[in-house]
Formats: sequence, C-alpha cells, structure tokens
Amino acid sequence: NPYLEYKNGELFLEGVSLKELAKEYGTPLYVYSASYIRDRIRAYKEAFPNALICYAVKANFNPHIVALTKEEGAGADVVSGGELYCALKAGVEPSKIVYAGVGKTLQEITFAVEKDILMFNVESHMELDVLNEVGERLGKKVRVAIRVNPDVDPRTHPYISTGMKKSKFGIDIKQAKEEYRYARSLKNLEVVGIHCHIGSQILDVSPYIEAVEKVVGLYEELIKDGFDIKYIDLGGGLGIKYQPDQANPEPEDLAKAIMPSLRGVQAKLILEPGRSIVGNAGILLTQVQFLKDKGHKHFVIVDAGMNDLIRPAIYSAYHHIVPVVERDVKYIKTDVVGPICETGDFLALDREIPYVERGDYLAVLSAGAYGFAMSSHYNARPKACELLVEKGKVKVIRRRETYEDIFNACFS
Ligand code: LLP
Repeated sequence: NPYLEYKNGELFLEGVSLKELAKEYGTPLYVYSASYIRDRIRAYKEAFPNALICYAVKANFNPHIVALTKEEGAGADVVSGGELYCALKAGVEPSKIVYAGVGKTLQEITFAVEKDILMFNVESHMELDVLNEVGERLGKKVRVAIRVNPDVDPRTHPYISTGMKKSKFGIDIKQAKEEYRYARSLKNLEVVGIHCHIGSQILDVSPYIEAVEKVVGLYEELIKDGFDIKYIDLGGGLGIKYQPDQANPEPEDLAKAIMPSLRGVQAKLILEPGRSIVGNAGILLTQVQFLKDKGHKHFVIVDAGMNDLIRPAIYSAYHHIVPVVERDVKYIKTDVVGPICETGDFLALDREIPYVERGDYLAVLSAGAYGFAMSSHYNARPKACELLVEKGKVKVIRRRETYEDIFNACFS
C-alpha cells in the first residue's frame, strides 16, 4: 500500500499518524485507507472497461467501505440477507447486485426478489425450484445465472478453493446444460447468465484461463440452444501481496490472461473482487501487553486475538507485522500471540520482528479483507473499532463495542 509509510521512524497511513490513532481510539484498531480502495476499483475499471465490478461485500462489510466502492461505480456481490441489507444501506443500486451462496433461505430469497436485484447465482437444482416459487408468489420474473463448477484447481489454500469437483459450490459444468434447460422450463425464471468462482488468493492467473475457456464453451453451447446469456460472471479471487517480496497479479494481468478467450462473447462481463480491493487497504493496530521468555521460546503477547483476526489460526495465513514506531534495529525471534484461551490464538509463529517493549504498538498488515469481517465475540471480547482515513482525515466507521453491545441481545 503506497499510502502506508514511515516518516522519521513513525508509521503513517494517508498522512495520519498511526501512533496517534492508537492512542486516541485504543487497540485493537482497524484502520483503512480510502484512497487505496478507490485506486483498486479504478484499476479494475481500467483493466476491464466494459465489465461490471461487483465488490465482494464478504471481504469487508462495513457499510462505509461498501459505500466507497459504490462511489467509484462498483456494484456488489452478496452472499446473505445481511450483506444485501448492507449493500442497499450503502446505496448500491439493486440493478448492480448479484447474490451467490449455497444455502439461501426462503426469507433471504424473498428479500432479494422484492428488491429486484440483478441476478441470483444459483447453486443447486432445488434452489431453482424455490426461486421459481418465490417469483410466482411475488408476481415477478427472477433473473438467474447458474454457478457452474469448472473443476479447475486454483492452487491456493484448500479451504478457499471453491471450483473443484469435490466442493459444495455450484453445479458440475458437465450437468449445467440440463439445469439450464430445466431453469428455462420454469415460468417465473429468466435465465440471464453464467457464474463461476474458482477460489480466493489466487496468485497465478492460469487457472482463470482454464476456467474461462470452459465457461465460454458452455456459453457457446447455450447460445446455440437459444439461450439469451447476457452476463458472464467470473467471480473474484485475485491474490494479493501478504509478504513484502511476494509477486501478485494485478487486474491488468488478469485482463491480459482472460480477455483473448472472451473475444467472441457478447455477454457483459461481471467480476466479484473482494480481497484485491480491500486487503491491503487495511491494517490492524495492536498493543504489546507482555513479553515472555521461556528460554527455548519467546512470546510477544498483544491485545489483538484470533477473535479480531482469525486468518493465521485457520489458514496458517501470513500477515506481516511491523512496529508503529521504529526502535533500534535489533531483531527477536518470537511468536506473536493474543490473549485468547486457545493455542491457535496467534498472529505469527517463529517470526523475526524488531525488538519491542511493553506498551509498543504493532501494525498487522494486509488485514483489510476477511479481518474484521471474520471477527467474533469469543471470550466475550468487544469487537474492534474501525477507522477510515483519507488524505489526512479520519472517520470512525464503527465505534468500539462496549460490554453492553455484546450482551444486549441476551436481555431483550
Ligand atoms: N465471489 C464469490 C462467489 C466468493 O465466494 C468469493 C470469496 C468472492 C467472490 C471474493 O473472493 P476474493 O476476491 O476476496 O478472493 N476467508 C478467506 C477467503 C474466503 C473467500 C470466500 N469467497 C480468507 O480469509 O482468506
């Protein structure tokens, strides 16, 4: 993130001192850079000038962040009634909202049909029937795309690979034609698209090429069969830099890889990037509580736990950790752990970080995507505060929770 820089040994984001923010708002604290998010949406729009970019709300569902992507012209990809609510609150036009998910409830489907969203990305045969019933009940034609599973290996972490045969997502591309015909036979559905999403944190674009070729093959068959396919939605998944020297593909590289295969296609392209929009826009600030030396092992105990950032615990994800105020360059090898009662509660294991003392602030980088979004109240911990900074200005986009916030729902 070019907006994150040291000045005289102190870390700033968009010109704002992170030490001052940590002092004023407390820690753990999420801070996001608005300019970075704007730049990322623009990079997608430049690389894909004719596509509809639907920001994947799941990556960070703070409505102010979603509103920012909307301001830059993005639509939204949602996976629940809550995300749909969020996108609408943020002002996203329903005609730019797509809705995926294997387990949409009747209530969620009804909500989305009433709002007349652009299309449902349908993941099963039964879902087609339910969408048709809801369309009938509400007197509406429901626009659908079928999420096809192209059976390609995105070569990423198994928990975030979604387009392989064994995964729960989508309909096997080989059976898709049958389902398309079935969908066409249902009178309250309008078949408008093909959807596919192969996984997340994809660092090599070749699996995309493989998937797109399969999708275009299906597209051509469907066109021949008389379908009017208006949209090809290729999902999200573009990987980002988590380690300073890591190479990552840019939207432009994705465009270069897949546009040739889409040359003969009339349908409008939709993309659903999440991580590559917000991932490197955000950092998590945390304060060192204690240092502990067990002889063979050293621990830095901080006030951000797995309830604030769970990615290291469940994906062994790497997040770079840097000091907010630099000290003399002396490195220690340590685990950086949180306060939660679980061995899995760590931010880094056996990591070389600059020497720290009690009270120091650390910045956990690349925490803008699937950071706050996956946070919980585990150990009855109030959720972190979220700030958005832009060109020196600071906006609280979620105040820190109180104990009452955690328990309110128990007493109403
Ligand atoms: N579209 C669909 C249908 C998806 O399932 C996802 C992500 C996206 C778009 C956005 O993918 P992105 O551009 O962000 O890679 N919690 C995991 C990531 C889970 C991704 C789930 N689906 C993590 O922290 O790495």
